[in-house]
Amino acid sequence: MKRSIKVFAPATVANVVCGFDVLGFAVNEPGDEVIMRLTDKPGVSLLKITGDEGRLPLDPDKNTVSAIAKHYLQHIGQPNAGIEIELHKKMPIGSGLGSSSASTVAGLFAINTLFDNQLSNKELIPFAMKGEELACGYGHADNVAPALMGGFVLIRSYSPLDIISLPFPAELYAAIVYPEVDVPTKDARQMIRSKVYLKDAVTQWGNVAGLVSGLFMNDYELIGRSMTDVLVEPTRAILIPDFYVLRAMAMETGAIGFGISGSGPSVFALTRDKETAKKITQNLQQHLKSLSINSLAFVSEVNKKGPVVLD
Ligand code: HSE
Repeated sequence: MKRSIKVFAPATVANVVCGFDVLGFAVNEPGDEVIMRLTDKPGVSLLKITGDEGRLPLDPDKNTVSAIAKHYLQHIGQPNAGIEIELHKKMPIGSGLGSSSASTVAGLFAINTLFDNQLSNKELIPFAMKGEELACGYGHADNVAPALMGGFVLIRSYSPLDIISLPFPAELYAAIVYPEVDVPTKDARQMIRSKVYLKDAVTQWGNVAGLVSGLFMNDYELIGRSMTDVLVEPTRAILIPDFYVLRAMAMETGAIGFGISGSGPSVFALTRDKETAKKITQNLQQHLKSLSINSLAFVSEVNKKGPVVLD
């Protein structure tokens, strides 16, 4: 039995514009790392967190990684097992890239590996959803499911949970830009209308079906024209500096589609090649710089692996 492990789990782009809470995909970078050790002292302790600038709770009941590790131990009938955790944040918090999800998923994958993979990655999803509930008040799965399973994922239903891995074109790249303004998911969820008009719902489910069909058919045009959101984006766009200017720039530079990543403020574009994705991040970062806003950029294929053991 392994006594110590280091795991990386990836960031994710949730919603994919039209699929609020039901679509998401994983990227190769950024992501978070968790080191976990079995100890003889009963209980779960969180030894340290790095890279969070002191923003995350060190209380093991409040931090998602340790709190969910406790749930896992209870579930497998080992509530008194001894675990030590280190969380190394390698990605921005409150960025719309599934930061809490990457940490929780790295922790869950680590503990499940230490306890002989008693659950499948898919079976770990409800535990990770509890982590999202702790982090932002609602246990959505569109970050944790792709982070755990890799690839492009559809949450067909929450009750009962029904999660589908979708195919995607081999040459699909994401260009991600994170403007350094803080948008906590909790706040970004509270501002959305809870009631929608039927005509908007018709537009939205047409686009979700169109996007999923485009992924199956390798039809970039269809993917792109389905990346339209009439329900959530109009409200959340106001949190992102010059959102519509950024969109116009990305589309002019050759994006297939563009939108908010998760609850923002990160934005992303899908492209057919790495060069275009790079150009988009350069242009968007330059524009943000002209507004005196610092930003980070990532270019990635869709991540096919999900979490990986580093050590
Ligand atoms: N679907 C979630 C939301 C993702 O948009 O609030 C959060 O990253």
